[in-house]
Amino acid sequence: VEDIAVDFRVNGKEYHVNCAPSARLLDVLRDQLGLTGTKEGCGIGECGACTVLMNGKKVNSCMVLAGQARGADILTIEGVNGSDGELHPLQKAFIDAGAIQCGFCTPGMIMSSLELLNTTLEPSDEEIKQAISGNLCRCTGYKQIVDAIRLAARNMLAAKRRH
Ligand code: FES
Ligand code: FES
Repeated sequence: VEDIAVDFRVNGKEYHVNCAPSARLLDVLRDQLGLTGTKEGCGIGECGACTVLMNGKKVNSCMVLAGQARGADILTIEGVNGSDGELHPLQKAFIDAGAIQCGFCTPGMIMSSLELLNTTLEPSDEEIKQAISGNLCRCTGYKQIVDAIRLAARNMLAAKRRH
């Protein structure tokens, strides 16, 4: 089978890759672009470890063929940064709230949370739980994670009001 060509943007940078027609977005990100922050857990769309934003919407990158990402804007955890080389407020809050244990679920959790906080900085706990309902964590129980997202939202809202 011949390779296919895919042009897309990842973390604001243009990429042109050639890959097998069956290659998943997850494979291209990790193996061809070296963006290994995006994790593979289940490989069948159930754990959310592979979550990235595609045109601003979260997707399980294990369930998206690279060819489906043609022309898309992809954001991975490597593209999530705070200002001035600092951690993103979500990353800080995950650390502060004790929401990271083994860390395997964290990139996916952060991407799902980011999608939510891009739409509101005053999410209800229900909205937070809904936002991460496709992301599994075996370590923390979800309380610390919900706390972290609530904290990040509060900090981001306060920062926005200061500017
Ligand atoms: S690895 Fe994609 S959802 Fe689990
Ligand atoms: S911190 Fe280990 S899976 Fe979530």
